[in-house]
Amino acid sequence: MARITLFAFAAVAAAQNLTQSIAPSATIDGTPTQNPALLASPFVMNVQDMWNMLVGPVTEAYYTTTISATPVPSSSLVPPPPIYYPRFPNGQQVPMESKNESWSFPRDFWWGVAGAAYQVEGAAKADGRGPSVWDVLTHRVTGFVTDNSTADVTNNNYYMYKDDIARIAALGVRTYSFSLSWSRIFPFGRGAVNEVAIAHYNDIIDTCIQYNVTPMVTLYHWDTPLALQDTYGGWLSENIVNDFVEYVRVVYGRFGDRVKYWFTLNEPIVFCTQYPLPANYFKNFTIPNEQQSFHCGQSVLLAHSKAYRLGKSMMPNSVIAYKNAQNGGYKIPLTDSEEDARAVQRAWDFNEGWFSDPVYLTGDYNSAVKTYVSTFLRPFTESEKQAIKGSGDLYAHDAYTSQFYYAPEGGVDACVNDPSHPSYPVCADTQYTYKNGWLIGPAADPLAPWLHKATDWVPQFLRYMKDTWADPAGNLPIAVTEFGFAEPYEAQKTLLEDILYDPIRMSYYRDYMEAILMAMSEGVNVVGCLAWSLYDNFEWASGFAVRFGMQYVNFTDPQLPRYYKASFFEYKRAFDVYQEK
Ligand SMILES: *[C@@H]1O[C@H](CO)[C@@H](O)[C@H](O)[C@H]1NC(C)=O
Ligand SMILES: *[C@@H]1O[C@H](CO)[C@@H](O)[C@H](O)[C@H]1NC(C)=O
Ligand SMILES: *[C@@H]1O[C@H](CO)[C@@H](O)[C@H](O)[C@H]1NC(C)=O
Ligand SMILES: *[C@@H]1O[C@H](CO)[C@@H](O)[C@H](O)[C@H]1NC(C)=O
Ligand SMILES: *[C@@H]1O[C@H](CO)[C@@H](O)[C@H](O)[C@H]1NC(C)=O
Repeated sequence: MARITLFAFAAVAAAQNLTQSIAPSATIDGTPTQNPALLASPFVMNVQDMWNMLVGPVTEAYYTTTISATPVPSSSLVPPPPIYYPRFPNGQQVPMESKNESWSFPRDFWWGVAGAAYQVEGAAKADGRGPSVWDVLTHRVTGFVTDNSTADVTNNNYYMYKDDIARIAALGVRTYSFSLSWSRIFPFGRGAVNEVAIAHYNDIIDTCIQYNVTPMVTLYHWDTPLALQDTYGGWLSENIVNDFVEYVRVVYGRFGDRVKYWFTLNEPIVFCTQYPLPANYFKNFTIPNEQQSFHCGQSVLLAHSKAYRLGKSMMPNSVIAYKNAQNGGYKIPLTDSEEDARAVQRAWDFNEGWFSDPVYLTGDYNSAVKTYVSTFLRPFTESEKQAIKGSGDLYAHDAYTSQFYYAPEGGVDACVNDPSHPSYPVCADTQYTYKNGWLIGPAADPLAPWLHKATDWVPQFLRYMKDTWADPAGNLPIAVTEFGFAEPYEAQKTLLEDILYDPIRMSYYRDYMEAILMAMSEGVNVVGCLAWSLYDNFEWASGFAVRFGMQYVNFTDPQLPRYYKASFFEYKRAFDVYQEK
């Protein structure tokens, strides 16, 4: 306990860039100071120092070298019996398949599974990885993670990726979407390139290709290098734009010969609204709390657009986009009142529209966001707007769910004109129930209260993306880059066969795929989808208490065995039945 307190003190002191020990050096050169808060420490930290002083000890996995793939026994590829509550579509019937003959996926429709570096890799300190903000959040910030877990080991994908890729390939999955840990490649976010990390990701990409699986790479999925957070505030500062661009330049150069699909940034709405980070664990910055996420958003638009332009110049055949967040999902007006319609529009403006309007439509914020941010953010220059506008080759959305929106207490105008209103600045309130009190659809695990199975709304959601962003931007294709479901209380189940039978997740995937097919048959150009997630993993602030996997991972067993859940077969079946051969 004392040890932890000591580390915590060191972390705070270093993060504040001010320790008592620097006082002597300040007097040695004789410079008088009236403002000791401006004094800076003279010490330099290496990667190991950062771990020791800012994070503390990390747990090691059972496997600490790369293991080769275990052949998948054919007995684990036997699908479950048909889902317990079959849908019976109209149209021409194919016995036992309940197939709608009006639907199909073209041959080149890409379907796959997704994960993210911090959530699956483990091997926290291995091979020179520098810490990210998430190592501090999990190790230092008491109560930040529901079950007090860290991702030091998690799925140990860093050493078990060959097995992971073999297992998805054995089910016929064609696409694997993963993210790179920026602080593996640049332990301090910038500076020297860690060649061991490059070799690691090279082998993941080569293993995908060996198994006929298309690798799709996300450049940033929330794990900001700690050094950049503590130097200039991470995404709060435009300094990150250059560092991000230099990082992706190296990545494109090393992997661009084999990777065609790139996602620059995952769900900026979500990671930007994680600011302000908890006080006292990171260097303190004085931007008012409520403005921090918008400073982050400004850096995101600049970083994304530059990374997009650079990627297109280095890899002309690449497909590059950022991933929109699920925040709020499809926004349904609670009533048909004009006020609720205005609230819904403001909700789109401040969620998807915050990033999608600049990138896909105008190069600048929509008027609702701009009215708010122009009091504290600098305007974009003309050349920045030009770089932002059109910086996406497809419209990628992590479209999990839907909910109802309505005007806040007192009406939209009263809220917009009152910064102290609890709904300010968005000025839209939400609920998960219809006006008559019934839930929009089955609830996910209580620790994922934002998520309900609302697949009936997916065709409308996809049409909205088409009409609002994809078509105006030049008939861009649309991809659902994450979708998935947290089976209620799954983490509390103890019998293997109970865990593997996940009926709500099964029906979620079945109905979701039907919803995509329906939208496609009505002219929405959906080109691919990525299920979240390839297996149970570290679900951020919910730790291991919430499960999104289509494979179960026994985290109690040090060898971390993986097992397919029934939902994985249901997902795959959509392509067995509907994809053109
Ligand atoms: C079959 O597909 C068509 C075209 O999307 C759709 O109109 C119809 O509702 C579908 N049938 C069922 C039962 O889903
Ligand atoms: C997590 O840690 C906190 C603080 O030490 C403790 O109160 C809580 O019971 C722990 N929760 C779990 C699930 O272990
Ligand atoms: C501390 O502040 C000084 C002066 O502003 C700066 O040069 C140095 O990089 C900072 N160190 C850290 C660890 O932030
Ligand atoms: C961090 O900055 C805020 C805003 O200036 C201030 O209120 C807070 O006390 C500071 N925290 C620390 C630990 O210095
Ligand atoms: C998980 O692994 C532990 C340790 O090997 C074992 O006791 C337990 O039964 C396993 N749980 C399941 C659901 O397979």
